[in-house]
Amino acid sequence: MCGIVAYIGDEKAGPILFDTLKRLEYRGYDSAGVAVKSDGAIEVIKSAGRIADLEKVYMALGSPGESMGIGHTRWATHGRPSDRNAHPHTSGEVAIVHNGIIENYLDLRELLTEMGYEFQSETDSEVLAHLINFYYQGDLLSAVSRALERVEGSYAIAVLAASSPYLVCARKDSPLVLGRGEGATYVASDVPALLPYTKDVIRMKDGEIACVYDDRVELRDLAGVPHAAEVERITWDADAAERGGYPHFMLKEIHEQPRAIRETIAGRISEINGDVRLPLGMSDEETASLERVTIIACGTSYHAGMLARYLFARAAGLPVDVEVASEFQHLQVRPKTLLLGITQSGETADTLMALKKAKTCCMRSLAITNVVGSTVTELVNATIYTRCGPEIGVAATKTFTSQLVALILLAVRLGRARGHLTPDQARKMLIELTKLPGLVQRVLEKREEIREIAEAYADAGCYFFIGRDYLYPISLEGALKMKEIAYIPSEGYAGGELKHGPLALITDNTPVVALATCGRKIQSNIKEVRARGADVIALASEGDPDIGKVASVVIELPETRPVFSAVLCTVVVQLLAYYTANKLGLPIDKPRNLAKCVTVE
Ligand code: G6P
Repeated sequence: MCGIVAYIGDEKAGPILFDTLKRLEYRGYDSAGVAVKSDGAIEVIKSAGRIADLEKVYMALGSPGESMGIGHTRWATHGRPSDRNAHPHTSGEVAIVHNGIIENYLDLRELLTEMGYEFQSETDSEVLAHLINFYYQGDLLSAVSRALERVEGSYAIAVLAASSPYLVCARKDSPLVLGRGEGATYVASDVPALLPYTKDVIRMKDGEIACVYDDRVELRDLAGVPHAAEVERITWDADAAERGGYPHFMLKEIHEQPRAIRETIAGRISEINGDVRLPLGMSDEETASLERVTIIACGTSYHAGMLARYLFARAAGLPVDVEVASEFQHLQVRPKTLLLGITQSGETADTLMALKKAKTCCMRSLAITNVVGSTVTELVNATIYTRCGPEIGVAATKTFTSQLVALILLAVRLGRARGHLTPDQARKMLIELTKLPGLVQRVLEKREEIREIAEAYADAGCYFFIGRDYLYPISLEGALKMKEIAYIPSEGYAGGELKHGPLALITDNTPVVALATCGRKIQSNIKEVRARGADVIALASEGDPDIGKVASVVIELPETRPVFSAVLCTVVVQLLAYYTANKLGLPIDKPRNLAKCVTVE
């Protein structure tokens, strides 16, 4: 996730671009840049680091530029944060800023290199600048349209050319908003950046391309068919706007999960080969010789690791040890082991220390993280990025479900390399995986039903979450969410373990959330707690004929593979915790005593 902005009007563009970029800093902050039209040419100022630092450089250069420009704040997905990887990217007299992922960028890069274009960065975005330059002969709209026809993936872009009297913007699967003001048009990834300038916005739709002038915007589709611009009057205050209209970042981030999952999958599936493209830093022969996997993580990331235990055994025939990072110092790693660190921030001290200790004894090491260039990436042989954009709420949500998806992709790659999955088995699983964002969206549409249930039980003295198989780790995650943000003592348990102790805690003030989309055995555990007076909120697949007979309340979820239903159940437990905390009036985004990233052991 990155932030992009643009301006065309009768004022100097630079100061407006910096001001709007600062309002988008929650979308990305590892590097920034602007390109402004200046004396018939384009001046680019960009660097790794914060926007405020770049602004000082811009001012020291005498605030160059006239009344037209584009800007970018980066959250790295391809290529680490650096001056060269910062946007805008240029080619001839064309400059572009991009948010999204160009999936076929390697093919395009090869083609453009053969044509003589020299690449300055490691980003996927730079291919756009060269492609547009290739087609540009004075008509920027036509050049951008032709370039986008060659592009697969997601994008929101703003394009500037020294000889063009207008800017061009386009979007597909990444947001872009145009703001109409007095004699000026503003562009941004999100509404908040525009509010100081105008409350009249046009939200671009997927597949639309816009010619942006100071006094109007002209919308079309890529085939050139004109679209009417629907102007919306924004009524939010500035604070709510930064959260995209949501009352809390956590709720916004829960709703961003379909997109985050889509981005994590993007460009990684090869349907033809029935395989996954992932950088494992080892050959298929080495992968086949692995004897086990050791996973190290903390908190929510540890729960993702626990799901991998079931997944890797089934998909790749690999036994997995999952260790809480802070306890790892007391344990040993065996040879022929793949070491896997899972950490959304890439900076958790316990995880980094354990990885440092373990990697010397392991055959290879991998990390799954959300932050490009974070410390964990320097400790391991290869990194798999979840591509969620910054997560602001302390309680992890979209980063967790994206970790689960990254683990599913990794399981398939390991399974294929080890001959444990046939191309056909892998292909079927991957095709179903591409449908997961849509299923998550359907679960999100049940938020009102979930809110009512959460509010009905908000005064519970204690919560239980139970699950079996893939859903056992999700029961732990549900209990953690309830503790973290609603401060309700909660236990996550494997269904079969209930009778070995915790059943003593069950009373009629102990709601039990039963994750029941994975097999029928959980129904006997539901009966056990019902017999002791507890209400049971069951999460079950649509059309389950029996669950209504045993549970007090049923939340129906779309039917899918058991491992994918773990993602769907996660969304429900996140919403249950969120609406409980909201009903209790708690500070959801910043719960007491907790930090987003713990950099001390
Ligand atoms: C903190 C956060 C948790 C997170 C854990 C691990 O405790 O509050 O939400 O799960 O750190 O973070 P990591 O960045 O390593 O995934």
